[in-house]
Amino acid sequence: MDSGRKVKLKDGREVLIRFLQKGEDPKELCNYINSLVEEDSAITLDEFQTPESEAAWLEAMLQAQVMGRAVYLVAEHEGRKVAGANASRGMWRERDNVILGIAIVKDFRGVGLGEILMKELIDRARALSPRNIFLMVFEGNDRAIALYKKLKFREIGRLPGWVRWKGKYVDHIYMLLED
Ligand SMILES: CC(C)(COP(=O)(O)OP(=O)(O)OC[C@H]1O[C@@H](n2cnc3c(N)ncnc32)[C@H](O)[C@@H]1OP(=O)(O)O)[C@@H](O)C(=O)NCCC(=O)NCCS
Repeated sequence: MDSGRKVKLKDGREVLIRFLQKGEDPKELCNYINSLVEEDSAITLDEFQTPESEAAWLEAMLQAQVMGRAVYLVAEHEGRKVAGANASRGMWRERDNVILGIAIVKDFRGVGLGEILMKELIDRARALSPRNIFLMVFEGNDRAIALYKKLKFREIGRLPGWVRWKGKYVDHIYMLLED
């Protein structure tokens, strides 16, 4: 996996799944994240990023990766970043819990990439030997919730009306991976 592995999606397209690495193009990272911001997708970030902010993010993420505090996976198609997925330890007294996150660009959803990436991410998260593997998802993000249930996450709590998404306040749901 270190140099990445190619996977075929349900529609026949191929993507390369690999770790985030030094030398990523900040403009490419920017295109990816800003496409998600632009469509008001179900992620917490809702501000456009710049190549400079992405370069700083890359630096911090690579350092966390080297220190064993995080893992970040990239899915790439013909040189374009089409998905990112990360597993990060909490800080200090929460260090034994690992939170997962994933976001796929619009034109690569619904063809199996989410499931492939999440399975890989869970394996990587397990290698961090955490007590808990969990994630947070917006109420109403039915596609994500269906995927997480399929992968054996179950709801353990929710923060009511916590997130403003598409003009209304929705719950932020915590889901825990059952072993
Ligand atoms: C949520 C997300 C990661 C799912 O990944 P995906 O590649 O679209 O999903 P997959 O094609 O791998 O499908 C996996 C499962 O998700 C569910 N699913 C997929 N498409 C769905 C849809 N349109 N409606 C409902 N459930 C759906 C199904 O359970 C599916 O399994 P099945 O094919 O056996 O029925 C992806 O759509 C995404 O990144 N969305 C935008 C950002 C986001 O919401 N991130 C998650 C934040 S918590």
